[in-house]
Amino acid sequence: AAGVERDDDGVLRVGGLSVKELATEFGTPLFVVDENDFRSRARTFRDAFGAVLGGADVYYAGKAFLSVAVARWIADEGLSLDVCSGGELAVALRAGFPPERIGLHGNNKSVAELARALEAGVGRIIVDSFEEIERLAALATARGLRADVLIRTKVGVEAHTHEYIATAHEDQKFGFSIASGEAAGAIRAVLKASSLRLLGLHSHIGSQIYDTAGFEVAARRVLRLQAEVRDEHRVELPELDLGGGFGIAYTSQDHPQPPAVLAANMAEIIAHECAGYGLAVPRLSVEPGRSVAGPSTFTLYEVGTVKSVPLDGGHSRRYVAVDGGMTDNIRTALYDADYSCTLASRGSSAAPVLARVVGKHCESGDIVVKDEFLPDDIAAGDLIAVPGTGAYGRSMASNYNLIPRAAVVAVRDGDARLIMRRETEDDMLALDVG
Ligand code: LLP
Repeated sequence: AAGVERDDDGVLRVGGLSVKELATEFGTPLFVVDENDFRSRARTFRDAFGAVLGGADVYYAGKAFLSVAVARWIADEGLSLDVCSGGELAVALRAGFPPERIGLHGNNKSVAELARALEAGVGRIIVDSFEEIERLAALATARGLRADVLIRTKVGVEAHTHEYIATAHEDQKFGFSIASGEAAGAIRAVLKASSLRLLGLHSHIGSQIYDTAGFEVAARRVLRLQAEVRDEHRVELPELDLGGGFGIAYTSQDHPQPPAVLAANMAEIIAHECAGYGLAVPRLSVEPGRSVAGPSTFTLYEVGTVKSVPLDGGHSRRYVAVDGGMTDNIRTALYDADYSCTLASRGSSAAPVLARVVGKHCESGDIVVKDEFLPDDIAAGDLIAVPGTGAYGRSMASNYNLIPRAAVVAVRDGDARLIMRRETEDDMLALDVG
């Protein structure tokens, strides 16, 4: 993140604070969010998309990481918010987030979630199944409301990312297929329901994507459908959402696109396609999660044990075990994700050795950083920082092995503020009512 530097002793500092002070005050493992960095990424997205097509909207995808403080930052910076569950909606509402700037997602929203969204006055609901269209229409009718909806389409592109986080190929659960005619059916169903108002179409092709080609194909397919809707139903849909999924750099090998480039590319293709079909340009929105939250945060761990394991060819690997692992970062185990790390509590002139940072959980797949060079003198008591953990770290945390979930601290201009406290054994025991 932008605000990270080292002092003369090699101690990492962020937002004007040393990681040693943070570890002492808040314990480890600890998610350290550079609030200025988070806010500036949010603003950069808002400004970049606000500058194209007469002003596109940015919905921060709360699944990346949501807390009351984060919802307030997002509101402050003028973004909208994508929530995908009753729980995320509850956090947003507790933060006082303006409901009309919230969109609700999910492929299997419960009746209770839909009812709550309607009653809260959520700005739009992205529908994902025929059952949901019926349920939502009935709930809105019963309340004398008209619900604004987008239809999630499945555009049939193979996004270049891990299979589990690609969401636009045919054989997966999200969206109505354009190719099979299902999306056209969903459009008819929504247009027929007098308690629903069709705002537009939605596509999210997947996550951690660097190549803009997938977004371009998605935009083309969705706009072609939009032109068909105009021809068949005589309605021009006023909005279009192209989802999130913009990749970030987890290691020096990764080269993400800046938001201004993404916005310009999308705007160009949309303007071009709309001109071709004679369509009015719809109001664009996007839903970045990772690219706002991810780079703003690093996880601070304390090293507990170090082992050297011989490898073939006379080499060895240093296994550096830290006090967290797959409960605060499941991404390495789940997606074979790459991370980097650095010794954070001191400088060292020792030779670099091939190391693997592992956690404290009862699985050999409990790996945080697969391969990194760390100084030969790495030892118990050292602090290690793993950057880029602001998205899908704390939000996917578990308490496997009954390890309490890590705390989140926001640092800004020399102040540290706990925004999510560490889970305690008492918190966990409170759920055990047996
Ligand atoms: N919009 C929709 C409809 C989504 O499903 C998602 C992510 C986003 C936006 C935000 O995507 P982002 O910009 O953060 O890539 N847990 C995985 C990623 C799964 C994301 C699911 N949906 C991970 O750790 O990589």
